[in-house]
Amino acid sequence: MKVLLLGELVGRCGTGVIKNALRKFKEEKVVEFTVAGAECITGGYGLGFQNALTLLHMGIDVLTMGEKAFYKPDMVESIGKKDRILRPANFPENAPGRGIRQFRVGERRVCVINMLGMMGFSNPHLNNPFLLADSIVGRARSETPFVIFLFHAQATAEKKSMGYLLDGRVSVVAGLHTKAQTGDSCILPGGTAYITDLGRCGSTMSVGGFEPENEIRKYRTSLPVRSRESFESPQMQGMLVELDEQTGLALSVEQVKLPVEVGVPD
Ligand SMILES: [Fe+2]
Repeated sequence: MKVLLLGELVGRCGTGVIKNALRKFKEEKVVEFTVAGAECITGGYGLGFQNALTLLHMGIDVLTMGEKAFYKPDMVESIGKKDRILRPANFPENAPGRGIRQFRVGERRVCVINMLGMMGFSNPHLNNPFLLADSIVGRARSETPFVIFLFHAQATAEKKSMGYLLDGRVSVVAGLHTKAQTGDSCILPGGTAYITDLGRCGSTMSVGGFEPENEIRKYRTSLPVRSRESFESPQMQGMLVELDEQTGLALSVEQVKLPVEVGVPD
């Protein structure tokens, strides 16, 4: 089975990338299951519920999030209505939504786990993702060989450590959040596909998907300047993984870094 993991979708440019490139790419590569990071899609900050429905309609199967999961109030109210939107599994139990779910892909079941890292975030009530991963991955694997672990985390060392912790126990460990794709996609010794960061779907000639001018102004003045979405050099970035039908482990990995034409809205 071929699985496509996409980096953070950023703003309207990110939506344009998905709209213009995803279906063709999936057809050409025979992709059966697609997961993406989506907490930066609505104006660059958070995921609005209507935006989420649009992305699912465009061919993404599961949307994952991180520290910005509940920036948009309608997501707080509506995440429980759509099981294809995940928030980090290590949020407090009383948070709305879920961070681990199984999905049907043909005759198979695929388990997706979304987790948030500890370093560099101000979410103080997180459960330790390493301890939680240890306790839930075994059960997930006993129910299906296909387990995809999206680790929304900042520090490379934290993501690498998670990769090695889960090597051979899950199909994929893929990092998200920085929006900067790393060149280290690989199959770890135990057979798990790994990348430190999937990168982004959106403008690449920008500061995290925003026009540089206003971002520079923020650093020079400390004023709360509004960010402006960039449409320069859009790309669809991520990793394509082929999984063994019996073991669920990786047979091959391919880094995705595809230029996409996206029109600038009026
Ligand atoms: Fe994030």
